[in-house]
Amino acid sequence: MTYTVKTRLLQVDPVHPNVEVIKLCAHVLREGGLVAFPTETVYGLGANAEDPNAVNHIFAAKERPASDPLIVHLHDIGQLENIATGIPSLVFKLADQFWPGPLTFVLQRNDKIASNVAAGKSTVAVRMPNHPVALSLLKDAALPVAAPSANRFSRPSATTAQHVMEDLDGRVDIVLDGGATIIGVESTILDLTKKSPLILRPGGVTLEALRVFIPEVQQSTRFLRADERGIDAPGMLIKHYSPRASLLLFSGDPDLVIASMKSSATEQINTGKKVGLLLPDSEVGLFREFSAIIYSIAGELTDVSHYLFAGFRSLDASGVDVILAHDFGRTGLGAAIWDRLLRAAEGKVVYC
Ligand code: TXA
Ligand code: MG
Repeated sequence: MTYTVKTRLLQVDPVHPNVEVIKLCAHVLREGGLVAFPTETVYGLGANAEDPNAVNHIFAAKERPASDPLIVHLHDIGQLENIATGIPSLVFKLADQFWPGPLTFVLQRNDKIASNVAAGKSTVAVRMPNHPVALSLLKDAALPVAAPSANRFSRPSATTAQHVMEDLDGRVDIVLDGGATIIGVESTILDLTKKSPLILRPGGVTLEALRVFIPEVQQSTRFLRADERGIDAPGMLIKHYSPRASLLLFSGDPDLVIASMKSSATEQINTGKKVGLLLPDSEVGLFREFSAIIYSIAGELTDVSHYLFAGFRSLDASGVDVILAHDFGRTGLGAAIWDRLLRAAEGKVVYC
């Protein structure tokens, strides 16, 4: 199935969204259309979660397998009982702390939510985004809105409206341009349907922050396997968030990592490859003698997460064959950054 439309790109003030623009987008959602909108994490591709037809158009536009369930977005916690059932009290405690924000709960699904939203599963993922544009759109539409990241399947998530247009122009009704998203990596997915709370995807809310409220929370490592069988979050195949270029990820002792990246860069350049480097600003000087394309990011983890996907897309646009990158630790936001890098690298890690 395809979904072909003329896409309208509309500007919206990210802090004080224009009422008329929001009303138009809400109307399009209620009519079964697709609207891409900014959230605090990445751009989302929204459709009415109660309309299976509209939801099918999301899968078609993204070329996403129907086996990969979507996150339902809400603006008011009162909507939750129309989305999920058997909601544990922990949800309200955590929502109090982290909503609106980059935390998604997996709960038992209410039948009002179209079954294709959840890829036929009995569970549903739900979150309240922390962005004025997203919140006013959800409020005006007065609907639960299913919204995956607004990129083509397996491409890096879109953190600007231009990225959305690159991937989805001609496939969605409206792209709402509210500027670059703040966090830059997706929400943390917390499964509350199991015996104990399990993080299926590290994201904008850190493990450390969750541990304050749920000391027993665990982080799943299952989704890091290349093997699709038995996966908890079906979208979490190892190849994901990928630039077109192949990515080689280096991890370990910082000096050894730099030495290893240098020798790999030399080797690749000597075999005629166009090399891209994704680096913190502080390391740019170390690679000055290489004829490589460098995308550099200030060293704070919040900067790295903000620019990570833009970096992949920018290096791709420069036509590099291979991207060399290293990890940024595993604590705090570092865990989400590591996860995205690992998947972009399709698991190819050089441990130093
Ligand atoms: O920050 C975000 O979460 C962004 C913004 C737009 O909200 N959304 C996002 O959606 O990243 P998406 O579809 O790109 O990623 C959602 C992930 C998928 O990997 C999917 O497998 C998982 O959530 N998921 C959705 N429903 C699930 C469920 N019922 N059980 C387990 N995993 C689920
Ligand atoms: Mg996605």
